Amino acid sequence: MQTPSGHPVESTPAKRLVVLVSGGGSNLAALLAAHDDGAYGARVVGVLTDNPAAGALELARDAGVASVVVSPKDFEDRAAWNDGVAEAVAVFRPDLVVLAGFMRILAPSFVRRYEGRLINTHPALLPSFPGAHGVRDALAHGVKVTGCTVHLVDDGVDTGPIIAQVAVPVLDGDDEHALHERIKVAERALLVETVGRVAREGLYVVGRKVTIG
Ligand code: GAR
Repeated sequence: MQTPSGHPVESTPAKRLVVLVSGGGSNLAALLAAHDDGAYGARVVGVLTDNPAAGALELARDAGVASVVVSPKDFEDRAAWNDGVAEAVAVFRPDLVVLAGFMRILAPSFVRRYEGRLINTHPALLPSFPGAHGVRDALAHGVKVTGCTVHLVDDGVDTGPIIAQVAVPVLDGDDEHALHERIKVAERALLVETVGRVAREGLYVVGRKVTIG
């Protein structure tokens, strides 16, 4: 990039993203597909999983991104595992930490350390249906519209300030799998767009209200 007078312009360095994943990693895959574009403003520099069998590990390897397994099985207790996660994430020097299908609760000390920079994606329209079974719970409740939420993480379970949401209709005959797959299509797009905007523009929070830019 150059100024009109021909001087090179330093572009802002991409924000360093660390992505925490427990499963297949379709949201991680979407971030990895976006991050090579210099205009995206963020780059996945590390992937952490609690699950040695996570598909996310292969995605990271294929993308040439460093990954680390921090499995509770390898630690004496929960506190030690939490410390292991905190140390492993810190090595990547993240600007933003993204929980993309990370199915464990992080310690309050971790949440505090990355306050305002710790983002989660959830497959329901929060504050409805928090927790590990957001899709199943929405379906069981009989809602006609559900969706996904990208939000800041606080000390509660899926209770942090909401950054962005998208609605997804529930169709007659949906089972949990079919509905979740449709939500995930919307979720990937929302996560990629939201993380990119937060990386490029920043965000500010007043009470529970989040504004990007
Ligand atoms: C996503 O739908 C994410 O919102 C959900 O797990 C899925 C992971 O999919 N997370 C939660 O339910 C957390 N409460 P992926 O591994 O294919 O990205």
